[in-house]
Amino acid sequence: MRKKIIAGNWKMNKTVEEAVELAGELMRGYAEQTAVDVVLCPPFTSTKAVSDVVSESQIRLGAQNMSAEDGGAFTGEIAHGMLKELFVRYVILGHSERREYVGETDGEINRKVLKALEKQLRPILCVGETLEQREAGTMEQVVEQQLRGGLQGVEPSAYTELVIAYEPVWAIGTGKTASAEQAQEVHAFIRKLIGELAGAEAANAVRIQYGGSMKPANAAELLGQPDIDGGLIGGAALDAASFGGIIDAASEA
Ligand code: PGA
Repeated sequence: MRKKIIAGNWKMNKTVEEAVELAGELMRGYAEQTAVDVVLCPPFTSTKAVSDVVSESQIRLGAQNMSAEDGGAFTGEIAHGMLKELFVRYVILGHSERREYVGETDGEINRKVLKALEKQLRPILCVGETLEQREAGTMEQVVEQQLRGGLQGVEPSAYTELVIAYEPVWAIGTGKTASAEQAQEVHAFIRKLIGELAGAEAANAVRIQYGGSMKPANAAELLGQPDIDGGLIGGAALDAASFGGIIDAASEA
């Protein structure tokens, strides 16, 4: 049985004060909860403050990006050691917004995935097709290329640590969610591909999150699908009640 994992991607939102308040609200409901892995990914400016709030709890901390370098002259970048110092355990890599706006390539994302695994940080590798790609019927090709590229050189044993987030770009922040059937179909495809890349054991162990307008109202149906092991939540993670509703749905799924 794969444990469900619900991660909140706060993106470029929240001041330190607001971040501490949101983390504090979640602590009241979920500090001791162990049925589901709960991960908060605040912006870097709030990481230390949120780390202090959740430090004695079951709530885990994530980052929204990481450099593939160890340190040095890389203006504006954040290295693995800086994240680990703040007790960050997970790192979102290859989010579609970084692929689109910063031009991150599969090769660069692959270097980050390998670095994160080497340093015992758990990558949340994001993949997903745009609307044009889905309409052109190239969805599976796109997702396969992102996975093959992003996962090059990953050892089969690492798939217990690695999380994949399937996020159809057309569903992110748009209010349009993939139907549970649409999402399940792609998740099953991803799991089959992991089987080809790394063997049956890895395919069975790897957790695959769905992301794209997940909210309390649609979470139960999505999380009830056999190959959907959690959610990567943007908008609905900015509010404790809605993020909590998704955690509740995951613990009942
Ligand atoms: P959304 O974002 O929940 O606001 O659609 C998901 C994501 O980008 O991770």
